[in-house]
Amino acid sequence: MTIRILPAIGDPDAARAVSSLLNQLPDAEPAPAVADSTALIDALAGAAAGAGTLPAGAPPAGPPSAVEALPEVVLVHERIGPTPALELIREVALRFPAVGVVLITTDAGPALFSAAMDAGARGIVGLPLGYDELAARVQAAAQWSAGVRVHLGGSPETLPGPSGTLVTVTGAKGGVGTTVTAVQLALAARAAGRSVALVDLDLQSGDVASYLDVQFRRSVVDLAGIQDISVRVLQDAVHDHHTGLGILLAPEEGERGEEVDDRAARQIIGALRSRYEVVLVDCGSQMQSANAAAVELADVALLVATPDVVAVRAAKRQVRLWDRLQIRKAEDTTTVVNRLTRNTEIQPPLVAKATGTQVARTHVPAAFKELQPCVDAGRLQDLDGRSTVKQALWALAGELGLVDSPAARQGRGSHRARSSLTGRKRKAITTGAAPGSGAGPGPASGSASGSGSGPVPRFGARRGPAAAAGGPGPFDPAGPYEEG
Ligand SMILES: Nc1ncnc2c1ncn2[C@@H]1O[C@H](COP(=O)(O)OP(=O)(O)OP(=O)(O)O)[C@@H](O)[C@H]1O
Ligand SMILES: [Mg+2]
Repeated sequence: MTIRILPAIGDPDAARAVSSLLNQLPDAEPAPAVADSTALIDALAGAAAGAGTLPAGAPPAGPPSAVEALPEVVLVHERIGPTPALELIREVALRFPAVGVVLITTDAGPALFSAAMDAGARGIVGLPLGYDELAARVQAAAQWSAGVRVHLGGSPETLPGPSGTLVTVTGAKGGVGTTVTAVQLALAARAAGRSVALVDLDLQSGDVASYLDVQFRRSVVDLAGIQDISVRVLQDAVHDHHTGLGILLAPEEGERGEEVDDRAARQIIGALRSRYEVVLVDCGSQMQSANAAAVELADVALLVATPDVVAVRAAKRQVRLWDRLQIRKAEDTTTVVNRLTRNTEIQPPLVAKATGTQVARTHVPAAFKELQPCVDAGRLQDLDGRSTVKQALWALAGELGLVDSPAARQGRGSHRARSSLTGRKRKAITTGAAPGSGAGPGPASGSASGSGSGPVPRFGARRGPAAAAGGPGPFDPAGPYEEG
């Protein structure tokens, strides 16, 4: 069996030493070492996506499946950065479960051994490297990897590697329309034929169930603490809604939300991404470790704000919080302006300027009367196709690439420019930290006023109230604005 090995080693001398030993291993196809954690994740993600970015020892000819294209073994040197080695191993093990990871370390003692195994490593080799030990560990990891691959290929019980698009929807503050946005984006993607999971990570006060008339007692808490989330376990926790959405609810008892920590959230999201093409997460507006992890991992992180001074200040506060905690950069965040009216002074270009985020080209008009009956009935799925709010949000789904075929999405990328991992260790967040559609209607052409989606400066350069950051920008009077 050919063993493809990808070493991740920052120090060039150590990389040379490892590579010369690997070249002596029988059946080994070592690729040139990648120098940091970001390059490793990018190389694996590229290989899994079929982009063929693995350097040497690349996958065989023909269109390999995501798993087949990955190297069997990844070697992680203890001094890799910027993500610390154990954290990196955990990430690789979660995102690429068919890769056997081996840690190279000077401290091969029992404590580190346990920690490495807990993180998901398949072996550990001590420095200075010896041929026999390296060969034994690489072969053991490769054998394990081969076993996993057979299992992945043959058993419907096992989840393949993550691949679904992760979109988070976070409110600048409470009540700005986060849940309405998340629900309608999910419905739009589903109506376009995508498999869609809608996750309520507004853990203390999630109301996805109320908006979609769901009575289901299982929640995201039922998945917290489960090490290997199998297809069956996931199916038990996800409610199959009659709209076709898979819905993972927030717990009925808000205090149980604390059981979903950063690690659980990453695992749950990884499992959902393996099963669904699109995973929409309602993050609410209060950041805790679970929704912070989701925002950090997201392909598209939306921040919903209404066009008023208080909400725009809250959006700035949220963006700064994310930046301070190294969750996400302002320029990697897309703000959605909801409840836009013609005569508000704060128009989308001003929101872009004040927050330093991109602002989605599609804005959502204020139309209380349209929404009220469906909201009161708890049946947001019944919102009429003529609803301007629905049209705008479904158009937003189109703008974000959620209703395209995978092939069409490859060519886009305006909202996918960021790789899903920052490659940095973000600071911990403490509980309660305050933050500051195919089958449906066509695009709401009038609601897109085409502003603020170009490169924008970082928010940190700006100070002072939103209104002082610039005057109202150009405004498209053709928008279907209604004040209910
Ligand atoms: N574009 C809109 N026009 C009019 N009303 C809207 C619009 N978007 C949302 N709403 C209304 O605003 C209210 C709050 O919406 P929603 O529950 O989605 O906000 P939220 O940010 O998720 O709130 P919470 O902080 O409670 O989770 C609802 O009554 C909803 O119908
Ligand atoms: Mg909500």
